[in-house]
Amino acid sequence: MQTNYKRTLITSALPYANGPIHIGHLAGVYVPSDIFTRYLRLKGEEVIHVCGSDEHGVPITLKAKKEGVTPQEVVDRYHELNKKAFADFGIAFDIYSRTSNRVHYETASEFFKTLYDKNIFEEYTTEQFFDPQANQFLADRYITGTCPHCGNERAYGDQCEACGTSLNATDLINPKSAITGNTPQLKETKHWYLPLNKDENFFKEWILENHKEWKTNVYGQCKSWLDLGLQPRAVSRDLDWGVPVPVQGAEGKVLYVWFDAPIGYISATKELTPDWQKFWKDKETRLLHFIGKDNIVFHCIIFPAMLKAEGSYILPENIPANEFLNLENDKISTSRNWAVWLHEYLEDFPNKQDVLRYVLTANAPETKDNDFTWKDFQTRNNSELVGVYGNFINRTVVLTQKYFEGKVPELGELNAQDNEALAEIAKLKTEIERNIETFHFREALKSFMALARVGNKYLAETEPWKLIKTDENKVKTILNVCLQISANLAILSEPFLPFSAKKLQEMLILQNSDWKNSGKTDILPVGHKISEPQLLFAKIEDSEVEAQVNKLLETKKINELQTNTALKAKENIQFDDFQKLDIRTGKIIEAQKLPKTKKLLKLLIDTGIDKRTVVSGIAEYYKPEDIIGQEVSILVNLAPRNIKGIDSQGMILMAQNADGELVFVSPQKSVQTGSVIS
Ligand code: 2FM
Ligand code: ZN
Repeated sequence: MQTNYKRTLITSALPYANGPIHIGHLAGVYVPSDIFTRYLRLKGEEVIHVCGSDEHGVPITLKAKKEGVTPQEVVDRYHELNKKAFADFGIAFDIYSRTSNRVHYETASEFFKTLYDKNIFEEYTTEQFFDPQANQFLADRYITGTCPHCGNERAYGDQCEACGTSLNATDLINPKSAITGNTPQLKETKHWYLPLNKDENFFKEWILENHKEWKTNVYGQCKSWLDLGLQPRAVSRDLDWGVPVPVQGAEGKVLYVWFDAPIGYISATKELTPDWQKFWKDKETRLLHFIGKDNIVFHCIIFPAMLKAEGSYILPENIPANEFLNLENDKISTSRNWAVWLHEYLEDFPNKQDVLRYVLTANAPETKDNDFTWKDFQTRNNSELVGVYGNFINRTVVLTQKYFEGKVPELGELNAQDNEALAEIAKLKTEIERNIETFHFREALKSFMALARVGNKYLAETEPWKLIKTDENKVKTILNVCLQISANLAILSEPFLPFSAKKLQEMLILQNSDWKNSGKTDILPVGHKISEPQLLFAKIEDSEVEAQVNKLLETKKINELQTNTALKAKENIQFDDFQKLDIRTGKIIEAQKLPKTKKLLKLLIDTGIDKRTVVSGIAEYYKPEDIIGQEVSILVNLAPRNIKGIDSQGMILMAQNADGELVFVSPQKSVQTGSVIS
């Protein structure tokens, strides 16, 4: 553990600009990195926190293709959205940059060129998948197929998201081009490789011997990579979106996104300050990468190998990676829309940034995957933030206003109970510090809340509202103690709950909120005037969380339908079987709701052959009066069935759209009623 550092450079993983930020990102990376940065700033240390959008990579080009827009349009949209959401949520980056800007192109090209000129890379020609129709090599996610490990039919060329295995495209069974759906061909192509194998001994010593203090999940992943043995890694790709490989003979090739993205940390620092080199090249800088667990190998092995090969950079001191956060017992997924999106949260819960920050920290996936539920969100807000912390502050401020005109009363003689409460301040402050410094943010928050609990309990036990009638001096002491605890909470909460910290500091008219002012029992001098009470937190009602749960249920329904539409085809039937079906065009001539049912309409259909009654389950989607004259497809030789006492003679064919709505299947041009559909 580096203790003799002069400054800290904090990086937070650059999120891909192909979707909005969600709670999984926040819990995994940005809330912890923000707590850490705020803490160092409050302590007056020299620190910068850099981040930005990761704007290259196949997920972005695929999204652009799907939407029929350019990759630049996609990244512009999400860069702005995410930058604003982070700022509104109080993630206090010193810079939020992006990898499609000029400084980054120059920095990444130059970095590659330096390694190239130092003959670091090895060049290999290998066979890779090529889509002749699209005239394009298929990198990573451009190729899908069946995972050889778990049989998932939608595995990508670089990874199977179902079982988490990292794959090579050529491992996939039945590979398909994500652009045309065609089976790709193998074709030769040349790429530049970083010979990680040459660094294997270095990494074994650097990580396995010298960084045993890294988090168990991080150390463990590195160990299994190193035990398997390191292989050369390609750092270029055949794509037209990315930083072009800056050497002759590399037309149509760009830097692999995982080569350019971490260099984005350097470019962002360059953009922030002309003094950027001291943060990257001075041994007295402590470099920390905050990331999620899927980024571990890139930050612990590949990026350090690049920095080491370049030669003039420092290596990271620690990489505090978190595990994943699930949502209501299901994996968060951008493509399945299974997430709580930050920009939507900020709209639905205005001025409640701290509530989400609190819940995500209290339940942070620090050592294992954890689950976010709206119920837990509500409970933590109502019973912890409102019930304990807010309640203590409110009672302290209200009573000080009521009994002492808002002035800090003097401290009289202290009994054991007062001393115990006061002693907790310094003790819990030390605990908070120790936990933050070792990246145990959940524990740090617990220690913080323990101080609020101490205050709440002290107030409940001493009952100054009763004592005021008999012993005003004791009440003065009690409220002085409570106000000192409150002032400490106002400072110590800042890394975790910056919005309410500010509110509380204003309420207490606290002049000096430096970290070093905390831990004391005389922050607020006797006679100091405080302000009027305002609520720090408000109760979250059942209806508010129900609305969020309903939103998720809607998503689930849509996803299930989409999965259904993608279900495999039924077993083959023979042509003779098909010929048995007599499907005709028909017209609805009468329609009425079937009494005492929700879903059923009784229809009279002109089939061209006859006019017959059909009972159909479409009442949720159509009013009887709106469908008179509607052309339909009807299976006329289905044996009559008795439905709710009515003989239904045939079946209307309906298609179900993604929202679950049933839609008529009717001829595109007018045809004679009774025409055979075949
Ligand atoms: O996993 C991700 O979201 C990547 N965009 C993280 C990149 S981190 C860094 F290297 F820039
Ligand atoms: Zn798999």
